[in-house]
Amino acid sequence: MRESFQSIRDYEVSVVLLFYGRLFETAPDVRALFKINIREQARKLMDTLGMVVDALDRFEALRPVLEELGRRHVSYGVQPQHYQLLCSALVWAMGQALSVEFDRETKAAWSELLSAVSSVMLEGAAQQASTGN
Ligand code: HEM
Repeated sequence: MRESFQSIRDYEVSVVLLFYGRLFETAPDVRALFKINIREQARKLMDTLGMVVDALDRFEALRPVLEELGRRHVSYGVQPQHYQLLCSALVWAMGQALSVEFDRETKAAWSELLSAVSSVMLEGAAQQASTGN
């Protein structure tokens, strides 16, 4: 994971361009949710993934941070079904940018990690929904 993330960071500009292109192509309605510039947004997304990769051995310790991030996403207008779209677009973009370096095993590991991150964010989002107003 760490090795591939280093490569992802090396190819970050390509990954990010491919990723947002793919995301907005598969889900045009999410484009309007992004208010700040995509470059800045991309850096924040990558920094968060970097934090997750650094803390892989203690994923549970990230839970509060990710739940809180998920709660903020509710206010950005992000809906649960968007997570799957984001994960697919991101894994696709990593595969395109890293090519042979992004083998089947690496791809599976990233899909699993992104899905775990999404689950925790969605749990945070659901708490917001049930405790809000
Ligand atoms: C793996 C899951 C995700 C991670 C790690 C992530 C990470 C981030 C981070 C770090 C920010 C910066 C603001 C903050 O910290 O609150 C952010 C903002 C945002 N994210 Fe995500 N995100 C994820 C999923 C999604 C999904 C599925 C969508 C919708 C397609 C989305 C749309 C947005 C939007 C619209 C903003 C606000 C940008 C703005 O104000 O222009 N994110 N995200």
